[in-house]
Amino acid sequence: MKAVVITEYGPPEVLQIKNIEKPTPKADEVLIKVHATTAHAGDSRIRRSSPFIVVRLLFGFLKPKKNLIPGIELSGIIEEVGSKVTHFKKGDEVFGLTGLRLGAYAEYCCIREKVKDGTQERKGIIKKIPNNLTLDESSVVASGALTALKNLQKGKVQKGTSILINGGSGSLGTYAIQLAKYYGAEVTAVCSGKNEALVRSIGADHVIDYTQEDFTQTGKKYDVVYDAVMKSTRFKCKKILKPKGIYLNNYWLSSIKQSDMETIHALIEKNELKPIIDRTYTIDNVVEAHKYLDTERKKGNVIIQIHK
Ligand SMILES: NC(=O)c1ccc[n+]([C@@H]2O[C@H](COP(=O)([O-])OP(=O)(O)OC[C@H]3O[C@@H](n4cnc5c(N)ncnc54)[C@H](OP(=O)(O)O)[C@@H]3O)[C@@H](O)[C@H]2O)c1
Repeated sequence: MKAVVITEYGPPEVLQIKNIEKPTPKADEVLIKVHATTAHAGDSRIRRSSPFIVVRLLFGFLKPKKNLIPGIELSGIIEEVGSKVTHFKKGDEVFGLTGLRLGAYAEYCCIREKVKDGTQERKGIIKKIPNNLTLDESSVVASGALTALKNLQKGKVQKGTSILINGGSGSLGTYAIQLAKYYGAEVTAVCSGKNEALVRSIGADHVIDYTQEDFTQTGKKYDVVYDAVMKSTRFKCKKILKPKGIYLNNYWLSSIKQSDMETIHALIEKNELKPIIDRTYTIDNVVEAHKYLDTERKKGNVIIQIHK
């Protein structure tokens, strides 16, 4: 099968298309014909080896493990099911996370079927796609929406909560704004002026243009500050938190569960949550996709189509 392989740690050019063996599903796995994956900040981190130690311990110390295929999230069609798989059948259209095994930048990928609720995302987690999304749109949902949801749960965001979301125009930011609005919060989004219309269109009540104003110097205080883009620090944000305010970034989240997938899925089908899509590339243009990703300017999400 055709797959993108990280041959060494470094710039986008280290992503090379190779022909490698198609995987075979184990008894509790499904084989997915991958429709699309994403140019995801996590894939860029693995490719660049950042943070150095964590990436090298997980994915190969001196150089990436043999045939290391990136790809954290995907959508696709189930082509084969293992003998013990009960929840999915051939032909099901699914979306989800590949877990620490990665592997979505390939024509085929195996993921374990979920059996019961628990800590699943390390081994991957999938669900049938929402009935109001295409396979392309579904590919960009799992990571951003689930990470934003876990953060808002941690921040106990509810009706009346005032929340500031730094990086409101990114993948996490666009999901976080919509989820916070759904839970009844008053949302201040931080983004550059060119993205103000986008964040307002998905629900932001207030917008701070970080190119004009430092959001930690406005004198306003919030119940929750979520640094979705991870460009600030707990120390800087402390002064804009109310006395019992909560600071969030993307570290130390509890594990993603199947019930979180159900929540996201239901909100999408109720039209309370939608993926924001910036650009679409094909697997043959994966280097270009990562060059764009590395600009850190994407609005929402970037799709990489594997099978059109
Ligand atoms: N996406 C995920 O599912 C996920 C999951 C876990 C952890 N993370 C981590 O979370 C961080 C954010 O991920 P992401 O995927 O949301 O990022 P992203 O989509 O790549 O972020 C791009 C956006 O960030 C904005 N931005 C850049 N610099 C900014 C700044 N100084 N202040 C405010 N906004 C700024 C850009 O807007 P402008 O062009 O207007 O600057 C752009 O719209 C990354 O470190 C990633 O590794 C991501």
